[in-house]
Amino acid sequence: MILVTGGAGFIGANFVLDWLASCDEAVVNLDALTYAGNRESLASLDGDPRHHFVHGDITDRNLLDRLFAEHRPRAVVHFAAESHVDRSIHGPGEFIQTNVQGTFTLLEAARGFWSSLGEADKKAFRFHHVSTDEVYGSLGRDDPPFTETHLYQPNSPYSASKAASDHLVRAWHHTYGLPVLTTNCSNNYGPFHFPEKLIPLMIVNALAGKPLPVYGDGQQVRDWLYVKDHCAAIREVLARGRVGETYNIGGWNEKPNIEIVKTVCALLDELKPDPAGSYERLISYVTDRPGHDRRYAIDARKLERELGWKPAETFETGIRKTVNWYLEHGDWVARVQSGAYREWLDRNYADRNAA
Ligand code: NAD
Ligand code: TYD
Repeated sequence: MILVTGGAGFIGANFVLDWLASCDEAVVNLDALTYAGNRESLASLDGDPRHHFVHGDITDRNLLDRLFAEHRPRAVVHFAAESHVDRSIHGPGEFIQTNVQGTFTLLEAARGFWSSLGEADKKAFRFHHVSTDEVYGSLGRDDPPFTETHLYQPNSPYSASKAASDHLVRAWHHTYGLPVLTTNCSNNYGPFHFPEKLIPLMIVNALAGKPLPVYGDGQQVRDWLYVKDHCAAIREVLARGRVGETYNIGGWNEKPNIEIVKTVCALLDELKPDPAGSYERLISYVTDRPGHDRRYAIDARKLERELGWKPAETFETGIRKTVNWYLEHGDWVARVQSGAYREWLDRNYADRNAA
């Protein structure tokens, strides 16, 4: 079996669902159920004996030791993290705690377990660390996309904490020989995405007739990948990636934020027209994010060359699926919009004046 951390979050839940749809290898899913973790996303696995959910924290070494001893996983896939840049600006402490201290604790527990294995199991064991392209910093308009050898130049508390965790993972391989893999992926979108990130926020706000807050001039560029393509890439790297290597994962799909927002509006105009007029009327330019990275872009050729992975979805197919998913899952959206969610919206948007 495999141990997945953060499997009740956006990408982790998609990964667990896709994993169990594609094979019968059981999953122990460890998640602290922070505001970003939703058991609801895993409801279709209720009663499935291949899925063992554990409510707990990756900084809890005793719990980790117990889970390794009891379940003896052949691999760890580590998603658990604080993941939202804006939240990291308001409160960086939790990012250091989970992303740095938590990854350290998980590495130590994994190393303890791995050291106790026989030679064959030791060789086969994998620690897969899921990371982000944001560790590389920001690109100029004409710079080539990030390769795996690009300098680490993180600019936000979030990306700095992820960069620190990537370095720990690398060091645990070089110093102790732990068989690690690291993937650095671009911005994901798709089902079960918590509606505080750009794409789901725009869908949910538009449907509620609320303003669509675009930071700054809306010309910041991100490279968008459908979440299920990310999950497929992780499965490939876990199965066949070279130990100690890092692989960039991206969609070859760079777009400025304002274009993303307008695409969401156009799809909603088609699929759920509002008698009041096009959803674009709700677009509202607001105060920019401090230190806002201008452009991210991923060069994913290493992954394609070595493992033959390519994204299956184009942005056009993926975003249509995503908008449809939100239209069909109003109940999921309603349930994740708790008091804590509304407090966050107040905290992040109240002081952003319309530009
Ligand atoms: P998310 O915020 O949606 O989910 C994170 C999950 O981790 C939640 O279920 C949360 O409850 C859990 N968690 C948080 N702290 C924990 C702790 N201390 N112990 C145990 N569980 C804890 O994040 P996501 O978007 O699914 O991202 C997953 C991973 O992928 C992260 O490591 C992130 O850095 C990385 N990543 C995300 C993106 C993206 O676009 N979302 C892109 C590239 C890489
Ligand atoms: P986000 O989804 O937070 O991902 P990240 O910051 O990790 O790339 O934001 C994606 C882009 O959208 C980013 O450039 C910030 C911008 N953005 C807005 O313009 N308005 C918003 O309300 C949010 C949440 C993000």
